[in-house]
This record gives sequence, C-alpha cells and structure tokens, in this order.
Amino acid sequence: MEQSQLTDLLGQMTLDEKIGQLLQITGDFYSDKAEERTGPMTQLGLDEDDLANAGTVLGVTGAEECRKIQTAYMKRNRLHIPTLFMGDVIHGFRTIFPIPLGLASSWDESAAETMARVSAHEASVSGLFVTFSPMVDLVRDARWGRVMESTGEDPYLNGKLAAAMVHGYQGDDLLADTTRVAACVKHFAAYGAAVAGRDYNTVDMSERQLRDMYLPGYKTAIDAGAKLVMTSFNTVDGVPASGNRHLFRDILRREWGFDGVVISDFGAVKEMISHGVAADERDAAKLAIKAGVDIEMMTVCYLRHLKDLIVSGEVPEQVLDESVMRILELKNDLGLFENPLRGADAEAERTVVMSKQHRDAARRVAEESMVLLKNDDATLPLDASRKIALLGPAAKSTDLLGAWSWKGQEDDVAALDVSLREAGIQVSTVDGDFDYLQPSDQAVEEAVRVAKDADVVVLALGEPSYMSGEASSRSDIRLPQAQLDLFKAVAAVNDRIIVTLFNGRPLDLSDIQSAKAIVEAWFPGTEGGRALADVLTGAVNPSAKLTMSFPVSVGQVPIYYNVDNTGRPYENDPEGKYVSKYLDVSNYAAYPFGFGLSYSKFEYGEVKVEDHEFDADNPLKVSVELRNVSEREGTEIVQCYVHDLVGEVVRPIKQLKGYERVTLAAGESRTVTFTITEEDVRYVHADYELDSDPGDFDVMVGPNSRDLSKAVRVHLF
Ligand code: BGC
Repeated sequence: MEQSQLTDLLGQMTLDEKIGQLLQITGDFYSDKAEERTGPMTQLGLDEDDLANAGTVLGVTGAEECRKIQTAYMKRNRLHIPTLFMGDVIHGFRTIFPIPLGLASSWDESAAETMARVSAHEASVSGLFVTFSPMVDLVRDARWGRVMESTGEDPYLNGKLAAAMVHGYQGDDLLADTTRVAACVKHFAAYGAAVAGRDYNTVDMSERQLRDMYLPGYKTAIDAGAKLVMTSFNTVDGVPASGNRHLFRDILRREWGFDGVVISDFGAVKEMISHGVAADERDAAKLAIKAGVDIEMMTVCYLRHLKDLIVSGEVPEQVLDESVMRILELKNDLGLFENPLRGADAEAERTVVMSKQHRDAARRVAEESMVLLKNDDATLPLDASRKIALLGPAAKSTDLLGAWSWKGQEDDVAALDVSLREAGIQVSTVDGDFDYLQPSDQAVEEAVRVAKDADVVVLALGEPSYMSGEASSRSDIRLPQAQLDLFKAVAAVNDRIIVTLFNGRPLDLSDIQSAKAIVEAWFPGTEGGRALADVLTGAVNPSAKLTMSFPVSVGQVPIYYNVDNTGRPYENDPEGKYVSKYLDVSNYAAYPFGFGLSYSKFEYGEVKVEDHEFDADNPLKVSVELRNVSEREGTEIVQCYVHDLVGEVVRPIKQLKGYERVTLAAGESRTVTFTITEEDVRYVHADYELDSDPGDFDVMVGPNSRDLSKAVRVHLF
C-alpha cells in the first residue's frame, strides 16, 4: 500500500476500530471452539467486536492455524485489516540454538546472524511475522535469572551481536523476503539492572550511567533497523518504563528518531497500578499512551478507557492516530495488506522446520559457544582408551534447551550420554534417573562406585532450565547442594574429574575448583549434547570466551570488568588496607569477562601502534602478533581494550573497543590489527553529550579482560 492509502484507511476507521488496533491478545481468544474462547474473553471482558478489532496476536504458530485465524479475522474486521502474529523466538524456533549468553560466548556476529536467520525462516513458514528478540539488556548481576537471555556485560559487544541478530531476522528487504520476520528490541530500558538481581525489581541509576552503559546496545540494534521496541517491567528513575515519557518520547523517538512500533511488555501497562503511579486502569492507559506505547500487551486499559480519555480531551486523538498509523505501517512493511499470510506455508513448514541444514547450523553455533574454563594436566580432550565414567544429573538429561525455547522439544535432543556413544566413546553410567536437586541415596552410592572404578570421571552438573529465565532469580548462585555433595563424594574416590555444566547464568564454582577440567556448556540447544561430546573428545577445539564475569562468590555481585576508577584503586595495591576492596574475597572475578581456554596454546607478541597520536581524521592502528605455539589448529578471540586516563567524569578502567576471532594452524602466526577511531572513545559527558576528551589513553590487547598486555600510551588530539 502507498502511504496515502494508509492515511485513507486510517481516515475510515472509527474510534473503536483505532483503539482495537492497539490491543494484543493471545491466540486462545481466536479458537474456533467457542467454549475455549469463553474463559479468556470473560477474564478480559472482551466481546466479539473487540476480537474483530484487536490489532495483533501473541503466541500462535503453525501455518494452518494462522491461516484459519487470519481468514476468519479478516472477514469479521469491517475494513479487512489483517491481524499480525507475534511471538517469542529468542534463540531458535523449533531448532534451538544456545541461549543468548552462550551464543554470545562465541563473540561471533555471523553465528548470531545465523541463529536469527534460521529462526526467522522456521518462524515465518510457521506463520509468525514478528519476533520479540533481540533482548539487549546489559547484565551485571548473575542472580537475575534473565541473564541467560542477554549477551552479557559489555555494551559494545551487546550492540554488535544484537545488530547481527536484527539483520538475521529482517534481512535486507523485509517486504520482499517473506522468510524473514520483524525484530523487536527489548526490554527498554535497563531491565537488566534490577536491584539485587530480583526480577521485576526497581532500577535506579543516574541518567548519565544509563546513557553511557545501558542504552548503547539498544541503540545499535535500533540503528540496524529493528522495527519494534518493547518496554520493560521495571521503573527507571522512579517511573515504570511503560509510562516513561522521557525514555520513549524524548530519547527513543526524538533523539534517536525511532519511528517504529513500541509494544508494552506482558501486562506492563496495567502493572502501573501495582507500581502505584496509576490509580486505576484509566490512569494507566493515559500514562502509557502519553509515553508513546502503541500496543498494550494482554491488558485492556486502552480498550476500556482510551475512548473516554479522547472524548474528554485528556488525550488528543492525534496521539492515538500516530500509534495506529505506526501499527498500520508495520503491517504494510510486512506486506500484509497484499499478502495477509506472508510466508506461512504448511508444506514448507514440514521441510524447513528442523531441517538437517538448520540442525547442523545449531550444532556449529553450539560448538562455538562452549567455554573451557579449566583444563589442568591436559585432562581434556578425553583419551578414548581410558575407562570413562559419565555421572551426574545432566549425564542423560535432555533439558538442554533453556527456559526460552518455546517451540523447542526435548524429544529432539540427544543427551550427553547418547552423544558420547554416538561419537564412539564408551562411558559407564548409572542406571535410572539422577535428580538435579534430590538424587536418591542409592543413585549417589552407585555413582561413587562407578567413579571409583574409572580412570576419569565426566561429572555432568548444572541447573535445571527452570532455575534461570523470567521470574527465576536466585540469591545463591552455587550449584544445587546435592550436586556439590555428589562432587565431594566422587572426588573422595577419584581425583580426575571433568565437570560439564548446563546452566543459564554465571555460577559461583568455588566448591568444585578441585576438578581437573571444567566446561561451561550453557543451555546449548537441540544439538548441544553432540556439540559438547565433540568438545570433550577433541573433535572440536573450544574457542568461546565468557561475556559475563563468573564471581568467586555471590558477595561480589554485581561484578563486571568495565568498572569505574575509584579514588582507592584495588589494582594498584590489593594488599593495602584503605583501598576499595573486601576483607574476605578479592575484587577479581573467578573467571573474568573475555576468559576461555583452548586445546591450542597462543602467545601474544608486543603490542604496537603505528603512531602514538590519533585524531578524528587519523585513527589509531594497534597491532599484535599472535602465534599458535601448539600442535593443533585453534581459534583465539583477540581482544583490544582502552582506558581513557582523564575524563570529565570518571571513566572505566578498561573498555572493550575491538575483537577478532582468529584461526591459526599449528605453529602459524599472524598480525592482528585493530583500528580505533576518535568516535570509538567518545562517552556520555555530564551534559549527556556524546564526545571524546583529547588527552592520554592506554591501549591493551590480550586473551581476556584480565590478562592484558602492558599498556601502550597514546594521545588523542
Ligand atoms: C517477557 C517478554 C516476552 C513477553 C511475551 C514477557 O513476560 O518479559 O520478554 O517477550 O512476555 O511473551
């Protein structure tokens, strides 16, 4: 449709029809069985007219199901405006990829793009038009269960990966390419900074910090063309995001020029009553619409009260019209007026969803996402000629998909025991199930007996998937006690333990430090068991690096590498008394941001700069020679950090400014070069302006945020 036709369409809509466009409800409202519709309809107080006008649908899939709903809907809708199907395709549709925190550990934008591309293809043939991804919340607190959905603690890396996902979902031409879906950046804003890591809790930070650290990731994803933005559940400076005009009108729309659709999070408009900033639903509707929230997800404050607010003149009709137009434009950008089913195709659904090609892609990404945290005495890869025991609750578990794998099915997953056998490794296991939290005494005794008899024990531990994700915060981020007890019991009879971990957050691993090797496999998805088996056997050489610090203990949380300078820096004098530190634990992470080992060994040469001075026209060129000094090919993620020595406001002691995945054959070496521009060292000043300060900077390169080269001093003019 031409823009003029959209304007014309808007002109024909009644007030009720316009308000209807702003409502999102779930698919059960459209069940063709009246008795299935009644419950939800009574609950929200909706009648058949409301259903005929509701603009978008949440959580329906299946080409046939979507076709049925769309056909019936368009018949009932007076102006035949199509509805729009949205859903949570977070790290895969049915073919599940690693959780975003795992995917991020690949530091591979092409892996992020592949995940999104495959997801979009499967979702689109199954009838979806929009996915609620990428989640770009910066995270520093592992107690928060939703860190699994994030790509970590660094704004630069988060932005890069989110932009790659947006491109993977939307492609280059969303209108023409019906195998793509529109992306929704969430949760705006700063949802990851919930106080004490408790989900839905208050977020309170300075606006400067918000702009400097928390907003850039979202902005990069929006600049990459994402069509929608979702509000967050939390408050920002005392105002719930879903009613926060400053966030949405001032920053997102005016400053950033975002002209796409803003959707509330699930029920978040009405929650403003519980927050205590709205007296009732009418008040909540007024706050949300004034803040610029276009779609209200799953509550009916708009539906019930917008008309009255407009008639009374409290909300100008123009505001409503702008929201409706954005929704119509989104439908138009997806080509729904001409093709209301878009890519939905029952035949393609059968061949595309879970195709071999998609499973292979998921496996490759899973291989790239597993972080080797420890490998003393080269215990890994496994020596197939030794007697290997595979024990622990995750040994036979198919709970590898993670909490946000909506359409994923455990039946598609090959567990670790099956995968190791497939890979030709004979392992001894115990019979029966082994519970994650309360294994039977008999199961533990049997495990100890098998461990005693083995040369090496692979102990497969972790969190069940429900322990991370939404509403799954934990105050204790160690492994469940029963697993620590199991570790101790096994360690008493066999000290050659390799721990593998399936989990959704950085854990406090201090109780299992006597393990010879530790592999963080995250929730690796449909092909995760096979990918982990390949890492263990050595068929795959691990290359992943953490994007979120693992603390020594929960008391250090929030812990992140890009901390501000203090007046009493720990780094200068860790033993000193009056420095910024704890008495009982170091300031450092157990495994810092950027950390991860390989079966290869890499050596870094001296860091060199082409010129010690740079300015807006002449970027800095930083190079380092990387050498693979081992016998096997491997991939190293080389990282470049910068420290702005004197700023107008306190600057972090280091910030990631570049990275590269470099694959080197045994004995090979290569010069890796980073280009750092003046723009790269800009930051948000006290007046919220993004600018750089001329002066001295330190540049460091290395394998992780902690073990960096000697700093090279450079000067910005
Ligand atoms: C979550 C969102 C999600 C939405 C729709 C909410 O509970 O916070 O991330 O997209 O539900 O399912």
